[in-house]
Order: sequence, then C-alpha cells, then structure tokens
Amino acid sequence: MKAVVLISGNGSNLQAIIDKRFAINLNIVCVISDKPNVLGLTRASRISIPTKVIISQGIEREVFDEKLRKTIDIYTPDIIILAGFMRILTPRTTQHYLGKMLNIHPSLLPKFKGLNTHKRAIESGETQHGVSVHFVTQVLDSGAIIAQSIVAITPLDTPESLAQKILVKEHKIYPQVISWFSQQRLILKDNTAYLDNKPLHQPIYV
Ligand code: GRF
Repeated sequence: MKAVVLISGNGSNLQAIIDKRFAINLNIVCVISDKPNVLGLTRASRISIPTKVIISQGIEREVFDEKLRKTIDIYTPDIIILAGFMRILTPRTTQHYLGKMLNIHPSLLPKFKGLNTHKRAIESGETQHGVSVHFVTQVLDSGAIIAQSIVAITPLDTPESLAQKILVKEHKIYPQVISWFSQQRLILKDNTAYLDNKPLHQPIYV
C-alpha cells in the first residue's frame, strides 16, 4: 500500500508509522510538510523517504491546495495520512481523497474540534480526554470516527503533561488503524466507517 504522509512539525506520529511500516505493509512514498526545516522531514530523509516542502504561510488556500494535490497525485498513493498536519484543506481536496485520507486528532471527538484541545479539556473540567482517528471529510475534524484511545485527566495534569500521555496513545492507535486500511478491512461508505463489513456506530477503543 502506497502512502503519502502530510506533516507540519515534529513528526512523532510519522516516526511511529515509519517504525511499523514493514509490519503494516506500508510503502511511504513521500512525506510532505507545509513548514520547512521541521524534525519530521529529517525523520523521513534519514531513511531515504522522498520529502517535499510546500509552504502554506501567506498562500491562498486554493493555490496551496492545488499545489498539494498535484504533488500528492504524482505518487498515486492508496492512502494519505495526515500526521500533525496543521493546515485546513479545501472541500475540493477532501473530496478528491474521500475514503483514503485519514487524520489523527488529539481529543475524544466530537468533543474539542480544532486547536488547543488539551487546554480546553482541562478548563472544561473533563475527567477523560484522548485521541481519535477519523476519515477526512469536508468539515474539520468531523469525518467518520474509526478509533479512539482514552486517558484520564488528573488534578495535576497540565496541557503539556496531557499532550505527552496522549502522544503515547497516538503512536499506538494510528499504526493500528492504518494497518486495518492497508489490509482493506477498513472503508468509508456513505460517510460511515466500516471495519470487516460492519458499520462503526461506535469508535473502536484501542
Ligand atoms: C498530535 O497531537 C496530533 O494528534 C495532532 O498534532 C500532533 C502532532 O504531533 N494533530 P507529531 O508531529 O506527530 O509529533
């Protein structure tokens, strides 16, 4: 299965996917970042995965997305993995990759879409928080949810400590979901995720 991974920064999720790429039968054909000089790019290039930078800052959304689509499509990927990619995609782009683009979001969706999820979860008095993996559709962080992992919020937690705990979960859940996709056990149909032909009315807890 050919994968293009989109990142904007550190790339620890990319690293987790790289580490399991043989086990999950994934050929990462390109890593694309919308930010230059980020650690995620180094993680890819040190094992000779081709990398591309397409700067997003100050670029009109449609113009950026067209460049992005052109670059992705050169590689004819089977799956497009958003791994800490911080740019909102246009409906044209999400539609173009419907059913083969996945995202990981650090909250128990549908709670806390968007940014600063850890801070918002603490400030709202939540006792649980976590991470979701979902198909990407037009509306931000709203596509069919596939799987979630939960962590407890303790009184001592800060946004930073919570982020650390959740990243540990992220590094496990994302390769797991990607492996279902690469085994063709996971599909999107009529805006619903199906695993082994069963609709996922609830996320799978990993
Ligand atoms: C993760 O928390 C991910 O859920 C969010 O951005 C962060 C990226 O971390 N979308 P990394 O770049 O993979 O280390």
